[in-house]
Amino acid sequence: MTDSHAPAIEAIGLTKRFGDFTAVESLDLRVQTGTVVSLLGPNGAGKTTMVRMLATLLRPDSGRARVAGHDVVSEPDKVRRVISLTGQFAALDKNLTAAENLRLMARLRGHGRIAARTIAGALMERFDIEAIGDRVVKNLSGGERRRVDLAASLIDMPQLLVLDEPTTGLDPRSRQVVWSTVRDLVAEGVTLLLTTQYLEEADALADRVVLIDHGREIAAGTPAQLKARVGEQRVDTVVTDAAQLERLDQALSASFATSVARDQRTVSVPAPNEAADLTRVAQAIRESGIAVDEVALRRPTLDDAFLALTGRPVNADLDGEADSAHEPITHEVAR
Ligand SMILES: Nc1ncnc2c1ncn2[C@@H]1O[C@H](COP(=O)(O)OP(=O)(O)OP(=O)(O)O)[C@@H](O)[C@H]1O
Ligand SMILES: [Mg+2]
Repeated sequence: MTDSHAPAIEAIGLTKRFGDFTAVESLDLRVQTGTVVSLLGPNGAGKTTMVRMLATLLRPDSGRARVAGHDVVSEPDKVRRVISLTGQFAALDKNLTAAENLRLMARLRGHGRIAARTIAGALMERFDIEAIGDRVVKNLSGGERRRVDLAASLIDMPQLLVLDEPTTGLDPRSRQVVWSTVRDLVAEGVTLLLTTQYLEEADALADRVVLIDHGREIAAGTPAQLKARVGEQRVDTVVTDAAQLERLDQALSASFATSVARDQRTVSVPAPNEAADLTRVAQAIRESGIAVDEVALRRPTLDDAFLALTGRPVNADLDGEADSAHEPITHEVAR
């Protein structure tokens, strides 16, 4: 029996080691039924390891976890009945078509041939993949494949859906499609645990965010609480000649209370008023006569969260990846 009063997920001190490397270290996690919780962290933070333990695919070394009241170690069958994990890497058969994959998965879940066909058809309609249903999966784009993946995880509507980085590598449009699908599911009452590398995604979808790194919790709270600690959007100005950085900093300090030189060519100012602040920056630059390459409004990224909450950047070699999803809103400046 599923205990309807139990939280969807309750993990205490969950730990996983691979040899002498600790991937998840004494992590607590609580997900209330009907809510969306995001596990946010950079590459290697331990997100996949954590969700695989919760989905009974990996055995914890210590700590304990219950899913809908069932222990992941002693009652794995009961846990599997309520949880559906959409893994980070597609679990589809690349040589079958999208429709064949969905029908096959429905059959594997015990549905008869006709029922499987009906279920697959309904899911394809819902995820807007009817047009690509007859194409073999290996020829689909990343975004198309991701939608087929999501459809496959909903063959039997789960109580608890776990999505492991559902939008990594997707273009902004495909990301929006996945987001709106996720919102629909949540509106239907599905409890969701979502891992992501994007602060913006956690902000857009989650009721609560748990930021992790090196298998440990760094911060947790509502997106608003986290954003209050991380800071809001800002305007970044990239100077053409690094020697002019200080002059630019002074020019911007004159019209903004604070400005921060972020690297050798970039000065940041807080931009709570978005476009209005962007315009003010552009004006200050024009008046100063300093040549700049770019002026852009940026929303806080995972990098910014790390810097604000830990005082250090995310692993330097991975910077680009965490940032790539954030298309800046760029404003051309007359020189
Ligand atoms: N089976 C394994 N054997 C050894 N090390 C592992 C194994 N699985 C994961 N790790 C290591 O544990 C750490 C956490 O990995 P995990 O896959 O949980 O990270 P992640 O947060 O999901 O990262 P990403 O965003 O890149 O998917 C990594 O350093 C990884 O190399
Ligand atoms: Mg992962």
